[in-house]
Amino acid sequence: MNIPDHIRHQAHNLRNTIELHNYQYYALDAPVIPDAEYDRLFRELQELEQRYPQLITPDSPTQRIGAAPLKEFPKIVHRTPMLSLNNAFEAAEVDAFDRRVRQTLGVDSVEYMVEPKFDGLAVSLRYENGIFTTGATRGDGYIGEDVTLNLRTVKSIPLHLHGGLSSGSPPALLEVRGEVLMLKADFEKLNQQQREKNEREFINPRNAAAGSLRQLDPGMTANRRLTFLAYGIGADPDGNVPHDKQSRIMDYLASLRFPVARERSVVNGVAALMEYHREIEGMRECLPYDIDGTVYKVNDLAQQEKLGFVSRAPRFAVAHKFPAQEAITEVLGINVQVGRTGTLTPVARLKPVFVGGVTVTNATLHNEDEIRRKDVMIGDSVIVRRAGDVIPEVVAVQKEKRSGHVKSFVMPGHCPVCGAKAVRLPGEAVTRCTGG
Ligand code: IVH
Repeated sequence: MNIPDHIRHQAHNLRNTIELHNYQYYALDAPVIPDAEYDRLFRELQELEQRYPQLITPDSPTQRIGAAPLKEFPKIVHRTPMLSLNNAFEAAEVDAFDRRVRQTLGVDSVEYMVEPKFDGLAVSLRYENGIFTTGATRGDGYIGEDVTLNLRTVKSIPLHLHGGLSSGSPPALLEVRGEVLMLKADFEKLNQQQREKNEREFINPRNAAAGSLRQLDPGMTANRRLTFLAYGIGADPDGNVPHDKQSRIMDYLASLRFPVARERSVVNGVAALMEYHREIEGMRECLPYDIDGTVYKVNDLAQQEKLGFVSRAPRFAVAHKFPAQEAITEVLGINVQVGRTGTLTPVARLKPVFVGGVTVTNATLHNEDEIRRKDVMIGDSVIVRRAGDVIPEVVAVQKEKRSGHVKSFVMPGHCPVCGAKAVRLPGEAVTRCTGG
């Protein structure tokens, strides 16, 4: 079949764009688009390549696992590659996943081990004779960066294995995989400190965790409180780990004192997967760390083996993502709202954008200082965040996209409601109406 030129171009452009974002995200820890936008581009390319398989090149981002590791850290070759998960965004996609699993296995119903999808950074921890020897980031999936010294500062990572060992002596080699995260409370504290020092704030806990783990000075990492949650095994050549169920592996890891999600569970069938997803979404805001979905894994390890892998992801697992909480849009204007107590709050009027499961047209800018610190101007392209029931807010400006047509905002000297003088008292961040 002949592929039209414009389709070839489209695939070529998508590859270049995705590669650039891979580099920004994985190598520089400085993403310039939200994860959801990246996911959308990736899917677009995947769909194009599915429709025209002749378009697939060996160097397409869909044909590999991640991006090049940073130069500054020593490299570590993973004993087994650190793969990715396929995403499902809708119930129909979860249905299709379960159907494929059942068809391949030739069974009517499947048992799944389910847990939250932690929104952090994947790491692999190597224990030799029970001692934590090396820890690596995912890198491109095959070769990661050696961040051992930084991981040693993460207090929830055991420096040696204790308890739970059937033979009494520790295994010669064990690789544990999981996610490094920053707790929401630690993220808030860190940003508070950044504000006090007049330094750049982090966009979200994931970016803060990534920036902290990639510090070349471990002392810096130690000051940035990080945490770890285990979700699997990388290598177990001695066969110490349970061989039958994913859920028993998790219990085993817990018995070795690795932090694992308390919210993990074992369920049967696709309806139970959907129910679990709803339940976790309901408790999302109360969890101490960010999650971006749930992960479903076929529980039986023999069944997992039978299902195997396709290029970058296992066929026996899927990530069921929540609607993204961050999105890009444009500031059309900045209005001032007057609260019941007479506080003037600047609010960004936005080009409507779907974020956090709803269409958002306004986002708070809090006060004048916030606008200055974030350097928000009318006409800017911005990252907007809406988490749970919290009022949507502008988290950052995409400065690299700024054109010459932006306009700065000036707080009015008078209350837009009653016309009385508006003042800002010394030491206060808010502007108040002096009338009424
Ligand atoms: S299992 C074959 N379980 O999501 C890969 N991954 O998109 C098996 N992640 O690189 C991964 N929470 O860093 C697994 N409960 C969880 C997870 C989880 C977060 C990350 C992981 C992986 C990425 C895949």
